[in-house]
This record gives sequence, structure tokens and C-alpha cells, in this order.
Amino acid sequence: MTNNNSIEICLIVALDENNGIGRDGDLLCHLSNDLKHFKEVTSGHTVIMGRRTYESLPKGALPNRINVVITSDTADNYQGCIVVRSVEEALTHCKEGEKVFIIGGGQLYRATYELADLLYLTRIHHTFSDADTFFPEIDFDEWILTEKEMHAADDKHRYPYTFLTFRKK
Ligand SMILES: NC(=O)c1ccc[n+]([C@@H]2O[C@H](COP(=O)([O-])OP(=O)(O)OC[C@H]3O[C@@H](n4cnc5c(N)ncnc54)[C@H](OP(=O)(O)O)[C@@H]3O)[C@@H](O)[C@H]2O)c1
Repeated sequence: MTNNNSIEICLIVALDENNGIGRDGDLLCHLSNDLKHFKEVTSGHTVIMGRRTYESLPKGALPNRINVVITSDTADNYQGCIVVRSVEEALTHCKEGEKVFIIGGGQLYRATYELADLLYLTRIHHTFSDADTFFPEIDFDEWILTEKEMHAADDKHRYPYTFLTFRKK
């Protein structure tokens, strides 16, 4: 599969020091600033997700975004979402020149990593020994760091974390 050059494909993820992203169908931890950052970055755009990630959303489809769910499920379980069968089909729903966000999970990140133009990483400075879902290995020689914002742990954030944006070389 090749990327249609008129669409900018962005992967957005919160990952621990070992690229862990999830456990038992949920996030590894909840960092309120990261949820805010995710909302700010993705609002107004199309978000594409795997079926399990959709099932993990507490209130279903994300507001102010076009939600696309990839699944082989034919049941009518995805209120407010466009349901597709493949990454190729998902991308047909994006407009020319649009910035589209792949929001997980592990299976979908693996399927789209090679297509990505931008990575929005929230690196959580901790290793969760019980993570069961992972982001693919990143070869940082292939990426240019364009933004970096470090945050210390505080009352609302149990772990320090860094927002990083990379563009493909
Ligand atoms: N840290 C983060 O930023 C972040 C973000 C998102 C999710 N997560 C976590 O990641 C975990 C879920 O990830 P996951 O890997 O288990 O599942 P997932 O990628 O969310 O969903 C997997 C399902 O989506 C469909 N699918 C995904 N990729 C596909 C492809 N290329 N072609 C066709 N169908 C595809 C299939 O659905 P069917 O089986 O229905 O056919 C597949 O079983 C959860 O723990 C979640 O909390 C973390």
C-alpha cells in the first residue's frame, strides 16, 4: 500500500519507555494533559481507529471529529462512525489535502507506520511491566524532531512525560 500524497497521515500515541501503549483493552495510565493535547491536535480532523480502540472509548465516537472505525464486524455497533474494512478503504474517506490521524491501537499502528508522514508521540517516562500492547519500533534516523515539550510529574500526572512531534525525512 502507498500513501496518497495529498493526504497527510499522522500517527498519534502515548507510549511508555518500552513502546507499551495498552493493557487489558485500556490505556496504561491517564494523564489529563495528554488527553487535552490529543483533543487539541485531533479536533476538526478525521480520526481512524481499530475496533478495539473504538470499544475502549468511554463515550463512543469522539466529538468534533470524523470517526472512522476499521473492523470486519458487520453489526450496527458503531454509532456516529464510518465503518470500513481496511486501511485503504478508510483513506478513501479523507479529503484531498487533509491531515488525518491514526489513533490506534497496536494492530492499526503496525499496519500504518510505514505510511506515516508525522508522529505525535507522548513519551511517558515510565516502563509498565504489565503492558500487553505496543507501538512498533521507531527508527529515529528516519524522522526529524520538530517539537518537544517536557513536563514534570505533578498532582494530576503521576509520571513525567514529553510531547514530541516528528516529520518523516
Ligand atoms: N496509548 C495510546 O495512545 C493508545 C491509543 C489507542 C489504543 N490504545 C490501546 O491499544 C489497545 C488496543 O489495541 P489493539 O492492537 O488490541 O487493537 P486495535 O488496533 O485498536 O483494534 C484491532 C481490531 O481493529 C481491526 N483492525 C485493526 N487494524 C486493521 C487492519 N489493518 N485491517 C483490518 N482490520 C483492522 C480489527 O477488527 P475486527 O477484529 O473487528 O475485524 C482488529 O481486530 C487498547 O489497550 C487501547 O487502550 C492505546
